[in-house]
Amino acid sequence: MAVILLFLLPSLAVLDAVPVAFQHTLQGDPYSSKKTSENSFDFTMDDQANFTFTQEGKSWLQSAPAFLYTEGKRFSAEDGSLKLDHRETESGADKMGTWTSQCFVYMAGSRSWKLCAKAWQDPAWPAVVFQQHFINGTDGSAHDTDSVISGFPSFQIQSEDNGFGFLGYQGCMFGDTNSKIGSWTQKGQGLTGGILGGPVAIFDQNHGVCIMAPFSEFMSTSRAVDGNGRVSWGVMGGVISVPTGFVQQSIVYCGNTGINQVFSDWGRFMRTYYNKDDTYRKTDLTVNYLGFYTDNGAYYYHTTEPNKNYEDTILEIKEYIDSMAIPYRYVQYDDWFYPRGPKRGTVTWEPTPAVSPHGFQYIYNITKLPVAAQNMYWSSKTTYAKANGGKYDFIVETDKAIPQDLTFWMDLLKGARLWGLVMYEQDFLDQEFYTMNATQSTVDVAKTWLMQMGQAARATGLTIQYCMSNPRHAMQSLEIPVVTQARVSGDYHPGNDQWLIGESSIFAHAMGIAPWKDNFWTTTDQPGNPYNLSEPYPELEAVVSTLSTGPVGPSDRVGHTNVSLLMQCCRADGLILKPTKPATAIDKQIWQEAWKNGVGPSGQVWTAYSHVGYDWYFGIVLAVDIGADFKLFPSDAGFTSFEALTVITRSNQKTTTPQLSDFGEANPIQLTSGCTRLNFCMYYTSPVINVDRAATQIVIYGEEMKFVPMSPGRVSNIDVTNDDVIVTLQGTTGETITFTNFVNGKLVRHTCKFGQTGIASLGLKDPRSTCQMV
Ligand SMILES: *[C@@H]1O[C@H](CO)[C@@H](O)[C@H](O)[C@H]1NC(C)=O
Ligand SMILES: *[C@@H]1O[C@H](CO)[C@@H](O)[C@H](O)[C@H]1NC(C)=O
Ligand SMILES: *[C@@H]1O[C@H](CO)[C@@H](O)[C@H](O)[C@H]1NC(C)=O
Ligand SMILES: *[C@@H]1O[C@H](CO)[C@@H](O)[C@H](O)[C@H]1NC(C)=O
Ligand SMILES: *[C@@H]1O[C@H](CO)[C@@H](O)[C@H](O)[C@H]1NC(C)=O
Ligand SMILES: *[C@@H]1O[C@H](CO)[C@@H](O)[C@H](O)[C@H]1NC(C)=O
Repeated sequence: MAVILLFLLPSLAVLDAVPVAFQHTLQGDPYSSKKTSENSFDFTMDDQANFTFTQEGKSWLQSAPAFLYTEGKRFSAEDGSLKLDHRETESGADKMGTWTSQCFVYMAGSRSWKLCAKAWQDPAWPAVVFQQHFINGTDGSAHDTDSVISGFPSFQIQSEDNGFGFLGYQGCMFGDTNSKIGSWTQKGQGLTGGILGGPVAIFDQNHGVCIMAPFSEFMSTSRAVDGNGRVSWGVMGGVISVPTGFVQQSIVYCGNTGINQVFSDWGRFMRTYYNKDDTYRKTDLTVNYLGFYTDNGAYYYHTTEPNKNYEDTILEIKEYIDSMAIPYRYVQYDDWFYPRGPKRGTVTWEPTPAVSPHGFQYIYNITKLPVAAQNMYWSSKTTYAKANGGKYDFIVETDKAIPQDLTFWMDLLKGARLWGLVMYEQDFLDQEFYTMNATQSTVDVAKTWLMQMGQAARATGLTIQYCMSNPRHAMQSLEIPVVTQARVSGDYHPGNDQWLIGESSIFAHAMGIAPWKDNFWTTTDQPGNPYNLSEPYPELEAVVSTLSTGPVGPSDRVGHTNVSLLMQCCRADGLILKPTKPATAIDKQIWQEAWKNGVGPSGQVWTAYSHVGYDWYFGIVLAVDIGADFKLFPSDAGFTSFEALTVITRSNQKTTTPQLSDFGEANPIQLTSGCTRLNFCMYYTSPVINVDRAATQIVIYGEEMKFVPMSPGRVSNIDVTNDDVIVTLQGTTGETITFTNFVNGKLVRHTCKFGQTGIASLGLKDPRSTCQMV
């Protein structure tokens, strides 16, 4: 797909006009929606910093005038109070290649404020970054925390309905709780400004998408939405003074490959710029192995076994899981273990004697289970703060406190390593930020807090889970390598709707964060539970957790785990058999929510895929709560670039034999109202592999007894020879699995028992072939 961005500069003599043009074909990621349009996007900026984004002459985004608050006044290009001093063209090179900027230096009173639009030459990046350089800083800027003190870029939403839809992430849980999807018109967009806001994508029904988002200084960048239909990006509205030399940046990233693909590409751009790779996520025990959870919604949330303390309850859990051979590899402790202050904030992050008379190290020494532990915001009474007689620098306000001290985090986390901590869960990120003054009135306090936490976690060998993150925290994780995972929906309570993570997972996937669904029960009834509730859909909960690519963390009472159900997530050693790409809602589901015009399915249609071996892709479709019949084509699923496909229908009534059928633009999957929460529908796509000079067709299903039958965690390679397909399998010593495939349409099941090495190879053509230990 050709993407061209142009700076079209008028023939003004004062301008050193350097037109920048770049062009690129997107490649590499197979998750590619059907491209019905090859139209490119053009960015055009005039000599007054007015700009538009257009596609084939159609306006997508149009600028509104820039503005800045300083000295208690609002300076705007609109009324001439912001005066253009001169223009500059700049160029250079950074991690993303060579770039060119068109800059406009304004005077706001005596303060110089430079605005630039920057674009890279590399055609891989259909992006424009908008910069605000605070050459002389600002003072007396704060005016409204939910607005911004500076606006550039600022967009004028057109008042007529031009057929655009939008998806805005806002609220907590990675911008899930208040996210909005709708028609992009001035009225009723439902976008909130300020503190809760985050990235906004606008899109049409021709697969075009433009994403607007912060590009740097994530903790102090906001968007404002005003009554005139203007959306502006800049420094958040509570900031009193911006330091001299501060630079704030936002990005517009466009493409015509659909919502999922453009988010994924934008995410790749951001992660590349910030060096956020998947090293820590790939090696994080808590992302990759089954864990036991005790947070809100769990049986043991502020609840123990009768007449036992938490210490003895955890020891009992350990005995139970050992007796059932459930391979939990870590245990999560929640906010029940530490003393809290008047407004619930943490006073000292250590277990009270009532919870654990012998201390957590005692438990760890017995169970040998590594620990993930939650923490909330800090109480103003925290014993760690110098203000309260402690050793460390905190900013202490009326109810809460926030650390500004790397040594504090080093000491805290090093100490917790001794009781088995491997993952630190920072919860209530939103409240620590938006109920404090220092975080919102400065550009650096909140960033320092998260960066120091991340630096200490990295130095002590821990990873971090974000919980209740607003989009600002979510994006700040780009600069913190050890933040591997984050909650992407509200708290689990048996039977509730928080499994609906298909849309928030698009944003998490872009940020390189493993989406975490939260705990769940594997059986419907858990006697004596603190909620007096039951879970009607344990299997759906287990499937969604497994497809999320995040942690899988049940929270049952001792004696109440459905082991055969749960173990469909994992290998015998607890390694989660996950797909490569998390399950995300298809574009058409979002279109349908935006326009409600029958253009997409009513209900949840999510797709994921596994990338196995050198270049094999196995697709997964999950359909739940389907209202009207819907035909799902490979292009809707994002599977267009996969090889010739077949589809295998899974039923959660285990008695049925897998059915193989063609899947193509002529053979869609028919989704019907039969796909419910209890009987949700799952389909697996598989390439047709030709051997014996195309006389034999082999289609791999994989492990029927797993939610993800083909996972890179089990199948490490697929070798196609002239007359066979040989898979390399990985398992736990002594583990027995059944591996299924089709040979010329006929079902073949092989049994494989892993020996000492845990590696086996299996030829798929001959029904009598057996696993060879490697
Ligand atoms: C261009 O920008 C100037 C200064 O910001 C503004 O006054 C003018 O209305 C803008 N023109 C258009 C066409 O938006
Ligand atoms: C603004 O910054 C410029 C460049 O550093 C400097 O020359 C100028 O004196 C500053 N102006 C004010 C009012 O501080
Ligand atoms: C836990 O085991 C370590 C290593 O053996 C030992 O040093 C420590 O004292 C033990 N802690 C408790 C509380 O038993
Ligand atoms: C809020 O924080 C700013 C910056 O730290 C400080 O100047 C201001 O006095 C604080 N306001 C209140 C009400 O505490
Ligand atoms: C628990 O729920 C059941 C059914 O909704 C209800 O009949 C019962 O009174 C509830 N028990 C308590 C202790 O709330
Ligand atoms: C365990 O889950 C399976 C579905 O995987 C179900 O058929 C079975 O009834 C469940 N058993 C219990 C005890 O809930």
